[in-house]
Amino acid sequence: MQRVAIVTGSTGGIGSEFVRRISEDENIDRIWAVGRNKEKLDKLASEYPKVVSVEADLSKGIGEISEKLNSENPEVRILVNNAGVGYLGYFENMEQEKIESLCMLNCTVPALLVSECLPYMKEGSGIINVSSSSSFQPNPYLTMYSASKVFVKNFSRALGVELKKRGIKVTCSCPGWVDTGMLPKEKNGKKIHYTGMISAEKVVSKALADLRRGRELSLPSFFAKYFRLYSKYMPTKIVMGQWTWIMRKYV
Ligand SMILES: NC(=O)c1ccc[n+]([C@@H]2O[C@H](COP(=O)([O-])OP(=O)(O)OC[C@H]3O[C@@H](n4cnc5c(N)ncnc54)[C@H](OP(=O)(O)O)[C@@H]3O)[C@@H](O)[C@H]2O)c1
Repeated sequence: MQRVAIVTGSTGGIGSEFVRRISEDENIDRIWAVGRNKEKLDKLASEYPKVVSVEADLSKGIGEISEKLNSENPEVRILVNNAGVGYLGYFENMEQEKIESLCMLNCTVPALLVSECLPYMKEGSGIINVSSSSSFQPNPYLTMYSASKVFVKNFSRALGVELKKRGIKVTCSCPGWVDTGMLPKEKNGKKIHYTGMISAEKVVSKALADLRRGRELSLPSFFAKYFRLYSKYMPTKIVMGQWTWIMRKYV
């Protein structure tokens, strides 16, 4: 039986780093790299022999992955729910289509994939759900994004408790700013400064180490740790006010 890892958003900054690191794991035979962009998927497959491309637009559901699981019946050793989108700006300017696809990709798909993969997982398997420091407090101008990342964090932590008896570990990664294509370099002609930005390598290395240790939360930088405590103990109104003041010039 093939031992597989499934990585969504594998063509992006954090996802491709997950693919690189997992390809070094001798307990994994194949990595199902999920993404929409065929060219980028082909590039990954040419770089890493274990990669199998799974072309899928997850905003339309997880049909391609379900079919592949049914037909190949693998052992799923690692599931990385990493694909996600966020849009900076006023909620009132967000088209309803984007609202729907964000909820689908950021919230529904991780839950559906866990549900679909669990019958193929055994003791010792692991799940990494990529949330964000945006889950620590509501973020105006990233309103839908921060709300969706709260879902991922709470889903992940509660799931970890339920799956303990099966010996399946669940880790939720909550990075602050990460240097990937997701972050616009400028807005309205103004260069955007991202405080405490770190590399995708750091996020992935910490998430994999935390999964091995069975930690439910993975905070890959001083900024993420500080921000979590700050948001926990400061009144939400103050934290939101500071965030809004910093971000106002970019919207
Ligand atoms: N960058 C940050 O500052 C940051 C901070 C905290 C958390 N995160 C989280 O980290 C995760 C990865 O983000 P990233 O920074 O690596 O961003 P990224 O480079 O933009 O990658 C996003 C990935 O999601 C995939 N994706 C987007 N829409 C999709 C769809 N409809 N169907 C299938 N795949 C889709 C993209 O694939 P395509 O190539 O097909 O577009 C891409 O592989 C996200 O969940 C994000 O919320 C990021």
